[in-house]
Amino acid sequence: MEEGLSRFIRACYRQEVDYVPIWFMRQAGRYMAEYRALREKYSLLTLCKTPELAVEVTLQPIRALGVDAAILFADILLPLESMGIGFDFAHGEGPVIHNPVRSLADVQALRVAPPEEHLGYVFDAIRMIRAALSGKVPLIGFAGAPFTLASYMIEGGHSRNYIGPKLMMRADPGAWSLLMTKLATVVREYLLGQIRAGAQAVQLFDSWVGCLSPADYQQYVAPYVKIIFDGLRAERVPLIHFGAGTATLLDHMKAAGGDVIGIDWRVPMDNARSQLGPDVALQGNLDPVLLMAPRLELERAVRDILRRAAHHPGYIFNLGHGILPQTPVDNVKAVVDLVHAYNGAK
Ligand code: CP3
Repeated sequence: MEEGLSRFIRACYRQEVDYVPIWFMRQAGRYMAEYRALREKYSLLTLCKTPELAVEVTLQPIRALGVDAAILFADILLPLESMGIGFDFAHGEGPVIHNPVRSLADVQALRVAPPEEHLGYVFDAIRMIRAALSGKVPLIGFAGAPFTLASYMIEGGHSRNYIGPKLMMRADPGAWSLLMTKLATVVREYLLGQIRAGAQAVQLFDSWVGCLSPADYQQYVAPYVKIIFDGLRAERVPLIHFGAGTATLLDHMKAAGGDVIGIDWRVPMDNARSQLGPDVALQGNLDPVLLMAPRLELERAVRDILRRAAHHPGYIFNLGHGILPQTPVDNVKAVVDLVHAYNGAK
């Protein structure tokens, strides 16, 4: 679309579209041979911190798939460095935090620095990606949400039971609220910086918040997420609010903020729509594992989602969570083509 807003941005604002826009969470990554080739030469952090390389990785899925939006290549953990938290990506095990946050004193020591001081490479990458895309598709920026970042900071890495954050909430509520307030400030300023550098939409990833009860979400998470969305509302770009395992949290997430709510595969899209009402856009919700299923099964699942979601304005096709490394690229491309061929879009 050359004229006016792209179909992705239009769908975020619940305006009518010519066809259903689609992009994939983690659309750049190890499932693509082009990405693996670069990873043989550079670490993940080097890819993130070298704007030329981040541009190249961001564009790989745009060239290969024909999706309707690009997403900045970065990682949700990058802002932790600016707060004084060191981390690495251990082989196959995900992130490892060198100095986890365990006490009020640890939280008090965390810095809240202007993002330009440590994250300028992200803003440079955004400017360069915008130039390279030259209006072809919009660019989505992103950040991790306070709970998801706090759980990495406290647990020191991936977690099964989220014991650290759940206990800090109750055993040391002062430390918890200071940590969440600092994270909300850092994330808000970081996303503002991304928007000012040229991000045309931003997504907040609260990937692990589904481990909480609605009451705990309401008390210990929602106020801090709201600080972020309230701080971005005047920016005139669509705001996307994503979490996984959030069937019982969706109403609270909508209330905390976002023009678009990300839905995972555990909630049928029509149920999500009746629960959340007409005044918000929805994004989702193919189970990423189905991208490895036999083609006919995959197509059946995609059509089922479209039937449940696409007749209402304000729908963006995506996965319920990120693409997995074992995914065949051909299946991802087939989903893009199938969604674009669907003619029941509003
Ligand atoms: O979507 C995109 O294409 C943009 C790139 C992107 C990455 N991380 C690059 C990356 C995005 C949007 C993220 C977000 C992110 N990072 C999230 C939220 C999204 C989600 O999946 O819930 C989370 C929880 C993280 C933290 C993180 N980073 C983990 C848990 C891992 C390890 C996972 C694994 O598969 O090993 C990473 C590493 C990471 N970040 C990779 C990529 C492409 C894979 C690592 C590699 O190349 O070796």
